[in-house]
Amino acid sequence: MKNMFIKNGILINAEESRKADLLVHDGKIVETGTIAAGELPENGRVIDAEGCRILPGGIDPHVHLSLPTPAGNSSDDFLSGSRAALAGGTTTLFDFVTPRRGQSLHEALVERRLESERSRCPCHLHMGISEWNNEIAKEIVPLIESQGITSFKAYLAYQETIGITPSALKELMTIVAPTGATVMVHCEDGDMISKLCKILLSECKTRPFYHAIARMAETETGAISTVLELSVQTSCPVYIVHVSTGEGARLISAAKQSGIKVFAETCPHYLLLDDSRYGAEIPDREVLPCIMSPPLRTTEDQSALWKGLNDGTFDVVATDHCPFNTYGQKDIGLKDFTRIPNGVGGIEYRTRLLYTYGVLQGRISLEKMVYLTSSRPAEIFGLSHSKGRLAPGFDADIVLLNPDFEEIISTKNQVQKCDSNIYEGMTLRGRITIL
Ligand code: URP
Ligand code: ZN
Ligand code: ZN
Repeated sequence: MKNMFIKNGILINAEESRKADLLVHDGKIVETGTIAAGELPENGRVIDAEGCRILPGGIDPHVHLSLPTPAGNSSDDFLSGSRAALAGGTTTLFDFVTPRRGQSLHEALVERRLESERSRCPCHLHMGISEWNNEIAKEIVPLIESQGITSFKAYLAYQETIGITPSALKELMTIVAPTGATVMVHCEDGDMISKLCKILLSECKTRPFYHAIARMAETETGAISTVLELSVQTSCPVYIVHVSTGEGARLISAAKQSGIKVFAETCPHYLLLDDSRYGAEIPDREVLPCIMSPPLRTTEDQSALWKGLNDGTFDVVATDHCPFNTYGQKDIGLKDFTRIPNGVGGIEYRTRLLYTYGVLQGRISLEKMVYLTSSRPAEIFGLSHSKGRLAPGFDADIVLLNPDFEEIISTKNQVQKCDSNIYEGMTLRGRITIL
């Protein structure tokens, strides 16, 4: 078991930072403050953290490792994905059970739990609802009561494969509401997108960048409005994943102010990259790595999202890590954008991207970064008794951030497994060590 004495670091918690020592016994933080070295048990490590920031381990509540799709599984499995997470300061993951249509939720959960055992860090599972009928409806409460499931996930997009309709979502939320569990929703209007895709294909507009054209901002904001309204009607708490638009953030902020129980998440790629990646002049193979749903938006959206990190609109920055190789996976859709597997990688970079482009550029504080990437996800997903804080009694998931280092992101030095990297060439400040 882990015994450590970390001296001279600056401890960063969501509510405050202070220069203090930290003592760990048997994998738990036992003391913070001015600590005598003699308190370290035998065989313990002494770490001098002078000049470094000490953060609670990151919690990424939205990743898709080995996500099955018609183009094959997402390119990181639980082993490689969790290694990449740890390399980037994330020590706890939440992935998803994605039942096949016709499969029982319970059976899918058992399968996915087995798969997730390969993770090198704790990996919890949200229960995906990929179709809706009486059998599935009957499974919800038993999963909460006997399997400890506390979060469900529904997609309003992807109607042809894993999506469900708004009326099915309402039934799900009605069942979940009295249990205290949360429903997470991918907010994109699947019907509108399907219609637009058909029109574009019929006009021979098949190139990858049309993926984004078929998913304009209204497809997200309309779905967010629908879900907020369903939350009012059912009193079910909702967690809106990967918000990409400024208008979506505005709707959520207004809903929060009116007392609706809504949590909101955005992702580093929506904060840092924009729709210039979809230019018609860009070679199709360079566009493929950036195909995700919802797509990248405008620089005005980006500014609104950064503002939303500070004004309480957003609770979480998660990665939605779901990379696919460009060669052999994404390029299946080179001549038909509807066949491109959706998703991008980022599990390895969340902390350092937020540190470099958020904290060091004065957009968010270090405390806010810890709130968005660790403390708040711990609270929302039931881990706040043991994770998300550097304080006595909490797990010793400890990240050392040394600000004196710099790295250029590249597929050549990445830990994640993918033949492309949407952040290629960007500078990262700070080196991360998990203690
Ligand atoms: O494009 C994305 N986001 N792929 C991963 C699955 C999802 O929709 O979250
Ligand atoms: Zn999604
Ligand atoms: Zn996702």
